[in-house]
Amino acid sequence: MRRTLIAGNWKMNGSFSANQTLLTGIIAGLPVGDAVETLVCAPAPYLAQCADVLEKSSVAWGAQDVSDHAKGAFTGEVSAAMLADCRCKYVIVGHSERRAYHAESNELVAQKAVLALSENIMPVVCVGETLEQRESGATNEVVAAQLQAVIDVLTDGQLARVVVAYEPVWAIGTGKTATPQMAQDVHAFLRSQLAIKSVAAANVVRILYGGSMKPENAKELLAMEDIDGGLIGGAALSPVDFLAIISAC
Ligand code: PGA
Repeated sequence: MRRTLIAGNWKMNGSFSANQTLLTGIIAGLPVGDAVETLVCAPAPYLAQCADVLEKSSVAWGAQDVSDHAKGAFTGEVSAAMLADCRCKYVIVGHSERRAYHAESNELVAQKAVLALSENIMPVVCVGETLEQRESGATNEVVAAQLQAVIDVLTDGQLARVVVAYEPVWAIGTGKTATPQMAQDVHAFLRSQLAIKSVAAANVVRILYGGSMKPENAKELLAMEDIDGGLIGGAALSPVDFLAIISAC
């Protein structure tokens, strides 16, 4: 049984006052029960604020990136140990915006996942194809290579602690969503890739869908067998929309 995970990716948005409103709004409207796990991934300067505000709630917090080095002379970087100090439960690694704007390779993303796990932080490993790759029929090949780099460096036990997020690049922030069946097909494929390494891990790893998930399409997407939650960008900045997605589970 995989517990649904609804994760907000705030990207480079927020301020102390806006976050306060958003977080208290989420806490106030959270449905009772523990069927859904809720997570917000905030910019690094606001992780301590998330820890303060969310501490007594069931909402978890996490970061959007982590350094691929453990410590030292890496100006501007934030280490996994620092995220652990901020009591992050999760960290996003390999978001397509990092892959595209910071040239992050599959191997670098895998190293970040390793360092996160070494601090007991669960990596949310993002994979996804561009429109060009989808149109040329390369979707499975692309996402398999992205995931395989992570699979290769983890033990079966570590792999079971990873979250995967399938985010087709052409659907991120564009309003275009993969149809539930298109997403399900890739999710099932990703799970089959995990199963080659470990069937036990494949059964427990949650595979989230991301890319213009909103209240209007969340229910249909989340109803698919291998879609275990969502990684939500734009709609995670509004408590009303974020809560509506949680309620759709
Ligand atoms: P979006 O972003 O929901 O705004 O498309 C998702 C993401 O990039 O994680």
